[in-house]
Amino acid sequence: MPTSKQKKIAILTGGGDAPGLNGIIEAASLTLLKQGYQIIGIQDGFEGVFEERYLSITAERVKNIHSEAGTLLGTSNKMGTEGREAEFLEKFSKLGVEGLIAAGGDGTFAGLSKFRDKIPLIGVPKTIDNDLSGTEITFGFDTACSVVAESVDALRATAHAHKRVILIEVMGRTAGWIALGGGLASFSDVILLPEKPFSRSKLLEFLRDKQQTQRGLIVVVSEGAHASGEEVLVAHRVKGSPQEERYGGIAERLARWIEESLGWEARHVVLGHLQRARTPTTTDRFLTLGMGVTAARLALEGQWHKAVVYREGRIQSAPIADVMGPARRVNLDHRWLEFADTLGICTG
Ligand code: F6P
Repeated sequence: MPTSKQKKIAILTGGGDAPGLNGIIEAASLTLLKQGYQIIGIQDGFEGVFEERYLSITAERVKNIHSEAGTLLGTSNKMGTEGREAEFLEKFSKLGVEGLIAAGGDGTFAGLSKFRDKIPLIGVPKTIDNDLSGTEITFGFDTACSVVAESVDALRATAHAHKRVILIEVMGRTAGWIALGGGLASFSDVILLPEKPFSRSKLLEFLRDKQQTQRGLIVVVSEGAHASGEEVLVAHRVKGSPQEERYGGIAERLARWIEESLGWEARHVVLGHLQRARTPTTTDRFLTLGMGVTAARLALEGQWHKAVVYREGRIQSAPIADVMGPARRVNLDHRWLEFADTLGICTG
């Protein structure tokens, strides 16, 4: 039973969900509960503060949730704190917590960092896109790549059975890490990234060549990829979201173009939210276990306004501003692109 003297810390998950969020909640909560803290779970990201919806976290409640996708607390990528700062602060301060552990992306940290003097914060960077600055890897990315690689392996069979090109559209917004990681792990034939606008003529030349020698062919295309001189395809907009545009449609567009240009039958598959919906891989479980424990330790030591990052092979802390820089995109001289080149994989 919580007592009035007990110290309290709040936990929140914000932005799009990523496999591993529950691992962060479990590891951070168990660490803090062991030290006698009371944990307040804020529901649905910022929405939970505005609507004062909280969950009391007990060991029973969080035990073994690490293997489940999603987040026990719920999340939202539809709102920030802009224009409602005073209301946010007033409601948050009613919680009487020492500080807040937030697992989120750039939108979450941007929404919270303006309260630096008022809300002591520990940030755990999160996105399947793997594009946050200040950390070499974000949890959820490995699981998303596994979904892509397993899908390619499966779709290759039907592509070869029917002598078809199959285009697989994957998430990543302006960063091609999921396309590159998942595409390489499955030895895809073509990988198209937002960072490297592709040449339509070069791509056709590659495909024409393969049409002579291969029954089927797999193209992994990032939702933000586009041909040189063309714009990224915006599928729809989410009002109020820190990044309103949602990309999509490139795989279908390319499938029709390949059929018309080469007479090679083509189909497309959009993996979409399946990439965020699976039980975390072991790699992501280790990462979130370590990051959750580290976030809780930083809070216990009073080392606020830090982010838990992964650098040079280990989990460590860094100033929170480090994970709020511009998106970390694939450099064109990245070794993964060199591997693709060596293997004869076309990257546009
Ligand atoms: O940033 C994470 C991400 O999954 C992107 O890869 C994708 O473009 C976007 O979120 C999808 O957002 P929503 O869940 O609002 O459709």
